[in-house]
Amino acid sequence: MKTVQVYDDIYVISVNDRRKQLFENMWPLPCGIAYNCYIVDDEKTALLDTVELGSTNNFMAYINDVLKGKKLDYLIINHMEPDHSGEIQNVVARYPDVKIVGNKLTFKILKSYFNLSENLIEVADGDEINLGKHNLKFITTTMVHWPESMMAYDTESQILFSQDAFGCFGTLDGAIFDDEANFDFYEDEMRRYYSNVVGKYSAMVQKAFVKLQGISVKSICPIHGLIWRKNPAKAMELYNKWSNYETEKGVLILFASMYGNTEQIADYVARIISENGVKNIRIYDVSKTHVSYLMSEAWKYKTIVLGSCAYNGEMHPMMEIFCREMEHYALKNRALALFGTCSWGGGGLKSLQKFAANIGWEQIAEPVEVKGIPDNEKFACFDNFAKSIADYCNK
Ligand SMILES: Cc1cc2nc3c(=O)[nH]c(=O)nc-3n(C[C@H](O)[C@H](O)[C@H](O)COP(=O)(O)O)c2cc1C
Ligand SMILES: [Fe+2]
Ligand SMILES: [Fe+2]
Repeated sequence: MKTVQVYDDIYVISVNDRRKQLFENMWPLPCGIAYNCYIVDDEKTALLDTVELGSTNNFMAYINDVLKGKKLDYLIINHMEPDHSGEIQNVVARYPDVKIVGNKLTFKILKSYFNLSENLIEVADGDEINLGKHNLKFITTTMVHWPESMMAYDTESQILFSQDAFGCFGTLDGAIFDDEANFDFYEDEMRRYYSNVVGKYSAMVQKAFVKLQGISVKSICPIHGLIWRKNPAKAMELYNKWSNYETEKGVLILFASMYGNTEQIADYVARIISENGVKNIRIYDVSKTHVSYLMSEAWKYKTIVLGSCAYNGEMHPMMEIFCREMEHYALKNRALALFGTCSWGGGGLKSLQKFAANIGWEQIAEPVEVKGIPDNEKFACFDNFAKSIADYCNK
């Protein structure tokens, strides 16, 4: 691990975690995740956040490499989630005089995690700490995505230390800055991170944007993923779009199918939508693709088609997981079409309808439920259904 300079006297310590399978024991990490923290080596020295305990054996050595024997004056805690607070006790043990900077809520959580309640400097929204040349101004960003979360803006370098906001899944494989990487890969992982971790708090993200208005941001230093030094406006643009529930053109078709009937209908419907000139149609089997990816796709596309077989009088349990997450995250501004399959009294479509009523998305096609194995006659029941979806997309 090479020490990387972000600004004259500001350094990043970034740890790649390729071992963790599931972030928050929930979200798959096929490409890993990076934890970033930052050191300002000014007249006074400051460490902004730490990393997950156990993600590296060398965290204290990395700090020492930057500080070269100098003492650490401040430990600034922008976020207490354990993927960033994990090394706090080690930092305090190594630098017993370090002043810990956080807000009232930070300190409540800090006490409950590590029983630390000394050497604290409590800051509130707008407060500043001067390090010499650098001056850190704190911006509280309550519930983005924890109650204590805040950002620190350096008025000297105009760097925004943004904690989880503008972060991303995926390790930093050589490239650490946005201008060093091909963003095509990271955009999907960034949206997946947003939709899985932050998306529920989109209204709070919008509030944070209001607070950031009028602040000139030269670089964004998040605690996961790439550092935005070339084009921080791009990160802001994406977060603004996702937190405003803006969409891209396209149709996301999710099906739950035990014996293939529902899947066949999904393919049939997709074909007709395509024949009617719609591009970007994506079909996923909810039993196969992890809900993490389905949520990310739902955060992208305007039109969502859900099809479920009946399962004990309800929709299939794997479809229920997706629907439950959508209700929980309260995704807005989507167009919906529903279909079902069954062999006797149905139930899949009925429970999908309940979901539709709860989430309040506009339904753009008359729902259809068919019994038994689909033949040409049953497929034909979906012609108008698919046509309505295509018409909506082509409007
Ligand atoms: C465990 C199980 C539970 C089912 N529950 C119902 C039900 O409550 N109502 C119904 O009409 N059909 C029920 N079915 C029948 C399926 O919904 C029906 O065969 C459907 O076409 C299967 O679609 P698929 O081939 O996409 O899995 C059930 C089937 C299974 C295996
Ligand atoms: Fe977090
Ligand atoms: Fe995090």
